[in-house]
Amino acid sequence: MTLPAKLSFASLVLALGAGCSTRSKLEPVAPCPPASPASWLEQGPSPDERATRLVSSMTEAEKLTVVTGYFGAHAEWNAYRFPEARPQSAGFVPGVARVKLTPQWQTDAGSGVATQGAAPPELERTLLPSGILTASTWDPALAEQSGAMIGSEARASGFNVMLAGGVNLLREPGNGRNFEYGGEDPLLAGTMVGALVRGIQSSHVVATVKHFALNDQESGRRSVNVLIDEGAARLSDLLAFQLAIEQGAPGSVMCSYNLVNGVHACQNDWLLNGVLKRDWGFAGFVMSDWGAQADTVLDANHGLDQETGVSRLGEYQWLDKLGAAVRAGKVAPARLDDMVHRIVRTLIDKGAIDAPARPAPIDFEAHAAVSQADAEAGIVLLKNDGALPLGTTLKSVAVIGGHADRGVLTGGGSAQVYAPGGNAVPGLTPERWPGPPVYARSSPLEALGKELPGVSVAWNEGSDRAAAAAAAAHTDVAVVFVTQWTAEALDFPLTLPGEQDALVEAVARANRRTVVVLETGGPVLMPWVERVSAVVEAWYPGSRGGPAIARVLSGAVNPSGHLPASFPRSAEQLPRARIAGVGATPDIVFDVRYDEGAAVGYRWYDRSGREPLFAFGHGQSYTTFKRDELAARIEAPELRVTFRVSNSGTQRGQDVAQVYVSPVAGGWECPKRLGAFTKLALAPGENRAVTLTVDPRLLAVWDGERHAFRIAPGEYRVTLASSARDPGQSVTIALPERLLPAGAGSKP
Ligand code: BGC
Repeated sequence: MTLPAKLSFASLVLALGAGCSTRSKLEPVAPCPPASPASWLEQGPSPDERATRLVSSMTEAEKLTVVTGYFGAHAEWNAYRFPEARPQSAGFVPGVARVKLTPQWQTDAGSGVATQGAAPPELERTLLPSGILTASTWDPALAEQSGAMIGSEARASGFNVMLAGGVNLLREPGNGRNFEYGGEDPLLAGTMVGALVRGIQSSHVVATVKHFALNDQESGRRSVNVLIDEGAARLSDLLAFQLAIEQGAPGSVMCSYNLVNGVHACQNDWLLNGVLKRDWGFAGFVMSDWGAQADTVLDANHGLDQETGVSRLGEYQWLDKLGAAVRAGKVAPARLDDMVHRIVRTLIDKGAIDAPARPAPIDFEAHAAVSQADAEAGIVLLKNDGALPLGTTLKSVAVIGGHADRGVLTGGGSAQVYAPGGNAVPGLTPERWPGPPVYARSSPLEALGKELPGVSVAWNEGSDRAAAAAAAAHTDVAVVFVTQWTAEALDFPLTLPGEQDALVEAVARANRRTVVVLETGGPVLMPWVERVSAVVEAWYPGSRGGPAIARVLSGAVNPSGHLPASFPRSAEQLPRARIAGVGATPDIVFDVRYDEGAAVGYRWYDRSGREPLFAFGHGQSYTTFKRDELAARIEAPELRVTFRVSNSGTQRGQDVAQVYVSPVAGGWECPKRLGAFTKLALAPGENRAVTLTVDPRLLAVWDGERHAFRIAPGEYRVTLASSARDPGQSVTIALPERLLPAGAGSKP
């Protein structure tokens, strides 16, 4: 490609990075330190030791090169089109050839290797189901396996950093990025995202937990100022991050666009230096969300280690500006060294130096099977009055709407992955980023035809309600697909777009046996729910979504997904019926006060005595489970819960056993919290004894004075249930007082 003249600046950056041998005007005045470029590459010493060796041999200009990241995409709007950057990628950080330091090639995101801003030609890669679907599996081993798959594709696509590990809590059901995250509960989200991160990093690709923190809405995402008490944050959004970081050991954390308690997250000393680095002992590096860096000195001193996403000429905070700040004494030279040390140490620690990423062939068949296994375990059967599974006596099915003849929906924005075969439904709006809406080429209609041999499967596209109803009237069962595309940078109403609610009503009137399949990014309202036979939440089910949905409907797969988020009956049930800041003027800061504090999701419904449409943890199966022998004991100092689960039905299936904890005397932000969970596969008649450990932070409140989690002494109720609304069965146990340091990572 022809590089624009503007790129000459970038060439200078590289020249600067090349350091002492370059005779440019920007050459550092100070003499080069004695270079021992090879010694840091020796594999014996610890990552810290190797990073120390490297940093001590680098010039200031070289260090400044490593802490500044650019947009990677070779697109018109990117003034810094580095030839070495991967063409459709999110990020590129030049390496330093003199000391043999590799560049960073950074790719989005949590469902696989993404294509930036629809930059053609789209990179076709295996698409995992959305993060919220993976969370619905409640199966960390599956999340890890899924992470390993996308990590290996990142590596085989030449990337050594993956911007994957989204763990923002689902506080706002209308948040356009809920599909990227792990739901509303800190334990579930932190555990599942931590497992995904472990998987990604098993391919020597650095994973990035994001967006730190409290980036729970997209409206006004750069100007929303989230107001929340420290204790409430530590028990909700921050706890999700803390758990994901403990369990996944990500190499990097991405700070977010929003402000937290009046301060931009990327220059928030409390969040970055205090909570993340001091309290939690995070040894990796903090990168900004793309362009979230805002102030050379504050960013540097308050904990940011790498600025990213520079794409407009001169619109960066660091490079020579940071060099000048260091020389002026506004930023300590040791801080610059610390930034570089963290970055280099991480690359060494995660294997990105010793096992460099290189483009390599990908086994798409094997990877599609991983994606399908994830989808099959995370699709949630919300309601079933007997219409499902479709069964063997069936003669005819009408499949209606949702482009089910062509594919399954995917989420938009920077996380957009183009599955093999590209977009199955081109031409939808919005045309421009974060669009266009993309369907993965995996048709549920076609798959259903294969799953139901001998059954007549009719198709109706659903645009004409009367025709759809007529098609449904003459078949045994009608399956209606409804979709809601969601995407980064936007929030969405909870009502399905277009005339889809009316379509469902019309079909349900024509055929009592109507099954609704939802493909949505998060919770939606279902005004028709009482009038349909069954409802299946398929989220965005990934590269092989078609067969995964068909197999759940046919019964080849026994559904085992459970909701990682509550579905409201109406927006009025939520702490905020409308997301603040929709249509806000960019750059004018506005406040959103999280008065609900740590009472997010089911904790809020419980506290306010409201009953959601479908509860957190809910999910039906084609078999039945019995849970008994519940007991709780203290095995100093941990709380262990034991019970037995049996498959009391006639089919093989998987149960998600949920342990909720609550102080009998009250005193928390809500009546109960999820304390532990497990997923068990059981054959009919099989039973298994289980022991789970409750993370002590979930029994505690935040004690600001002692800067610690504190378990108050007293009686606690331990409830074994199948959802947050299931009364289940309970025992009580007395717990002694316990203090846990802010960074106490419990590793039961
Ligand atoms: C998003 C990040 C993403 C980055 C790079 C930003 O707009 O918020 O999640 O990793 O872009 O594409």
